[in-house]
Amino acid sequence: MIGVYDSGFGGLSVLRELRARLPDRDFLYLGDSGRAPYGGRDCDTLLDFAEQCTERLFERGCGLVVVACHTISCVALRHLQRRYAGASSSRRILGVTIPAAEAAVAISGGHIGVIGTKRTVLSGTFEIEIGKLAPHRVSQRAAPLLAPLVEEGWEDTDIARQMVARYVSELKGIDTLVLACTHYPLLMPAFVDSCAAKILDPAPFVADRLSDWLERHPQFDAPGDGVVQAECTSDPVFFREHATRFYGSELTAVQSLSEDGGRLVPRRYGPPTGQVVR
Ligand code: DGL
Repeated sequence: MIGVYDSGFGGLSVLRELRARLPDRDFLYLGDSGRAPYGGRDCDTLLDFAEQCTERLFERGCGLVVVACHTISCVALRHLQRRYAGASSSRRILGVTIPAAEAAVAISGGHIGVIGTKRTVLSGTFEIEIGKLAPHRVSQRAAPLLAPLVEEGWEDTDIARQMVARYVSELKGIDTLVLACTHYPLLMPAFVDSCAAKILDPAPFVADRLSDWLERHPQFDAPGDGVVQAECTSDPVFFREHATRFYGSELTAVQSLSEDGGRLVPRRYGPPTGQVVR
């Protein structure tokens, strides 16, 4: 079973591509929706959250975890790999930044724009990874209002188009724009309308790279029955309803988790039933 981790709903747009590319694999998706958005949080908090989510996925039996969240991939991937998946370990953790950087370099004429969360941009990880591949210029812009807008379901509104246009207008002279946040593919029409550059959703490239990687490393995951399970840290009914916009089809069941002593465990109580007068 392959674990797929994101701050909330956005990684479901990555899971959708992984499923399409690897239909016989079993997946366990973990959306830390109760603590999203991640993008404006400090690094220490993000490392804590990332550790808890990764541990949960390994505890559930995943041999491989894909960090689908660009924020965590940029800020915490190396830390997670060192801590949980050293060279001699039977586990592996993969991120989304390197496939995204490779895809951008492959199509760019020399000036790449990166739009993502504040923490993704501040990390400088895209500049570093693109710099390892090519001498391309990189211009970045944080777009902290876009993920909450998509969470709200407002991607097809004038407000969304205006916000995207405003952010994109600050990325001057780019020929390629990387959507470096898993929420942004839902805003693709607004990006296409407001930007003359090639717009890159990295998710299909992540799926291609994962498929290649699994062929070379079959010991970390075996083909299964194509089962997809999901867990979240917020209301599971709401999560399931909302998930379809990102995933493209319905999730059959969603388990709710809560934090207990630094670990994510199945939530033991139901929704509020009203007040008790004593
Ligand atoms: N999923 C996050 C990412 O891809 C964005 C949303 C958030 O801020 O939590 O960077």
